[in-house]
Amino acid sequence: MENKYLPVWEGLERSKPFPSHVRNVVEVDYQDFKNEVLRQEESFVESVTVSLYAGDVYLLKNVFPKEFMVALRENAHAYCKDRPSEFYKMLEGSPDFHRIINLEAGKKYSFRVCKHSCYFYPWNNDPLGLFPAIYERWRVVKLLMGLRPDEYEKNTPKDGVVDRIQIVRYPPRIGFLEPHSDPYRYQRLFFSGYMSKRGVDFQGGGFYLVGPGDKPVEIEDQIEVGDVSIGYATVWHGVAPVDQDKEPAWDKQDGRWFLSMYSNVSDEVPNRHTGYPVKLSIEGVLPKDY
Ligand SMILES: [Fe+2]
Repeated sequence: MENKYLPVWEGLERSKPFPSHVRNVVEVDYQDFKNEVLRQEESFVESVTVSLYAGDVYLLKNVFPKEFMVALRENAHAYCKDRPSEFYKMLEGSPDFHRIINLEAGKKYSFRVCKHSCYFYPWNNDPLGLFPAIYERWRVVKLLMGLRPDEYEKNTPKDGVVDRIQIVRYPPRIGFLEPHSDPYRYQRLFFSGYMSKRGVDFQGGGFYLVGPGDKPVEIEDQIEVGDVSIGYATVWHGVAPVDQDKEPAWDKQDGRWFLSMYSNVSDEVPNRHTGYPVKLSIEGVLPKDY
């Protein structure tokens, strides 16, 4: 299939610097958006690419059924309960695993973070049955990014770039991800799935983008469980702590859950291309006393 987005991306990337700040948040129904992406009609290709490269972030509504996300929270919680917290680099043959990344351990990551993450790779046996439903949607986003819809799907770490699904739980009070710019070279757009609803599953904080004047732009109140956001990878974003008055616990199911889909350069590649943290003094985006 011809990819009409790719030359437009390449032209923009040659002529203008990468976006760092969000411009507008555009809310669209996923079915309509998907149909337009697949149609690749010239005016849409041009306008959506230019808009994303100018820093617009698209909040796609109803991408996954709510029940899919709720079941995923349950299943990931059960998966972690039955297994020890472990870590494996992205090397050939890596198993799926989960890791508790507490405040101390999270200081060693490229962006400071505190979270509990489950990592799933397409070459393993898909214990939670995630890949069919996720690939159905990821293929649409990959086309829009200028890739083959099934690009990287069959890759393993020795091929350089691999797909990885991450189910994340940010526990109350201490869970966070500092503002950052994501790696853009192999995946132009971040592709983030929302699994929790603010005001229902957690209070305050959560996902934010960085807007003009380094001011946080909050979108959590617009988010329903099953929505997805996409934006150019270099647009700064982060996760602020939630439920400040709760006691954090690693074995609970509360806090904020999140689904991340990313094509990563594996650890088989020397000098991996990574993102970078941005140091901003925005109130409330780091845990208290951090
Ligand atoms: Fe990110």
